[in-house]
Amino acid sequence: MKSVLLTGGAGYIGSNVANFLLDKGLKVTIIDNLITGKKILVPKKAKLFICDIANQKKVTKIIKINNFDAVMHFAGLVKVDESIKYPKKYNDFNYKKGKIFLNTCFKNNLKNIIFSSTASVYGNARHKKVYENNKLKPLNPYAKSKYKLENYLIKNSKSNNFKYIILRYFNVAGAEKKLRTGLISKSSSNLIKVICEVAVGKRKKLKINGNDYNTKDGTPVRDFIHVSDLAEIHYLTAKYLTENNKSKIFNCGYGKGYSVLEVVNNMNSIIKKKIPIIIGKRRNKDIEISISSTKKFHKYIEWKPKFNNLKYILKTSFDWEKKLKYIKKI
Ligand SMILES: NC(=O)c1ccc[n+]([C@@H]2O[C@H](COP(=O)([O-])OP(=O)(O)OC[C@H]3O[C@@H](n4cnc5c(N)ncnc54)[C@H](O)[C@@H]3O)[C@@H](O)[C@H]2O)c1
Repeated sequence: MKSVLLTGGAGYIGSNVANFLLDKGLKVTIIDNLITGKKILVPKKAKLFICDIANQKKVTKIIKINNFDAVMHFAGLVKVDESIKYPKKYNDFNYKKGKIFLNTCFKNNLKNIIFSSTASVYGNARHKKVYENNKLKPLNPYAKSKYKLENYLIKNSKSNNFKYIILRYFNVAGAEKKLRTGLISKSSSNLIKVICEVAVGKRKKLKINGNDYNTKDGTPVRDFIHVSDLAEIHYLTAKYLTENNKSKIFNCGYGKGYSVLEVVNNMNSIIKKKIPIIIGKRRNKDIEISISSTKKFHKYIEWKPKFNNLKYILKTSFDWEKKLKYIKKI
């Protein structure tokens, strides 16, 4: 594997993966329309095309003048609350444009596709851990749009003679050690992002959406995966795909859950202050517990997580948030 095409490489996860692949000596080409992404997150060594994934003419040209071994499709909109307000927008961006982009890939003979999906396609799991063969029940328009594109990939892989890896991320957080890139998002509802914004004084308090869930302390439980581990997962699964030519669906998480209150308490001990919190009502259709099974991933991919530590995740997120305060042009 020498050369990879990334859509959404100016975003949080895509830019982390871009840096990781470049560090491994790969050639990285990015397509991003900067709708939420930021040019400053794009590594200098990557080639950036500011372009919509649904622009068939331009995307075809980019594919034709390069020789990509794999495509990593990150581009999309990611805010669950926004998707509930604007369901059509999410269907258009994540599903319809995604479909157009995939068709352009098929037509131009790109054979290895890695797709960024989400654990929210499972909805509320009945068992403690979520397995890849669980029944899928996406509860919000964001999750539905990802679910639809997953199905499109699966259904079209045989007739178009390509292979895919679908990665269902659990809660992605943290920043890489070198702080070259991280999460920039206005009015984010990402728990760790919000906590860090409170910690650096950008927000006054954290609102916890419900403390009456059937969990150890009443607050929802999530499986947080560090973005640098996720970046390595992309590298390893792309290698697996190009070497083995087999389609797979994998969960991406550590298999351990932390409640919202546990996350807050860990942050309190890092900053040696108390994050002010208020308890609000449950959000509509919020998931109670979301923890990944990691069994299937470990069966096929040789990998050991390097950053499986909540305090490290929080510390790097906090360091990134502090750095952001001093970046003027975002
Ligand atoms: N962040 C998470 O915790 C999480 C969890 C599960 C899944 N995911 C998935 O991972 C992917 C990346 O998420 P992220 O957190 O980095 O989001 P992000 O918003 O930081 O990045 C998305 C990028 O896609 C670009 N983009 C969007 N629509 C585009 C289009 N039509 N054409 C070209 N570029 C376009 C944006 O400008 C942005 O740079 C998404 O597909 C998301 O659904 C993220």
